[in-house]
Amino acid sequence: MLLCPLALTLALVAVSSTVSDVKDVCVGSPGVPGIPGSHGLPGRDGRDGVKGDPGPPGPMGPPGGMPGLPGRDGLTGAPGVAGERGEKGEPGARGPPGLPAYLDEELQTTLQDLRHQILRSVGVLTLQGTVLAVGEKIFSTNGQAVNFDAIRESCARAGGHIAVPRSPEENEAIASIVKKHNTYAYLGLAEGPTPGDFRYLNGAPVNYSNWYPGEPRGRGKEKCVEMYTDGQWNDKNCLQYRLAICEF
Ligand SMILES: *[C@@H]1O[C@H](CO)[C@@H](O)[C@H](O)[C@H]1NC(C)=O
Repeated sequence: MLLCPLALTLALVAVSSTVSDVKDVCVGSPGVPGIPGSHGLPGRDGRDGVKGDPGPPGPMGPPGGMPGLPGRDGLTGAPGVAGERGEKGEPGARGPPGLPAYLDEELQTTLQDLRHQILRSVGVLTLQGTVLAVGEKIFSTNGQAVNFDAIRESCARAGGHIAVPRSPEENEAIASIVKKHNTYAYLGLAEGPTPGDFRYLNGAPVNYSNWYPGEPRGRGKEKCVEMYTDGQWNDKNCLQYRLAICEF
């Protein structure tokens, strides 16, 4: 047997398996490598890869493109300056009728409060000697002596009337004022067309009188009535200066 390099012997064995007549030969040194074969055909596409990260925003497009969608509403602005006052509207429809006064608790309470306050005020004025209260009536004087018409006017201005007694108590109260000021006072009476027929200033007939004995005797020439310091009455012309006493 020939001694050959092991590798070559094996190569020979592989070849010899198809050959019937095997001969022991030694192969010479390897030849120059051949030219590389041409490239194979391109392989098929692989499967899709995973989605990549979003890229950076692109540059602004050229002007003249389509307008974008309207943006969202902005923040609420500061309130504007108040407008001018409008013209007065027409009065509204009349409301439903209210409760009768006697059922209106609030009204009744208010009235009671007022009554209380008025009585207290009268009490203070009475203590000061400014007024005299007799029953529901209040008599008061400003201490001035003026003629009959002037007394009527100043009493009306004060919201009252020239005083006239309708009972002995009221006569007494007025008389005490006359006495205190030591000045006769005119009363709220006047003689009608018939001499001696004295009436209240509203024309109603007199239901109380306190004439001095023999009065009235002016026979239609003395149309006013004055009160003496003792509380008795006398008919008199209306142009004397007499104490102004009002009743309320
Ligand atoms: C006169 O009438 C008034 C009011 O009507 C009454 O307050 C007064 O008490 C009457 N006087 C007399 C004496 O009857």
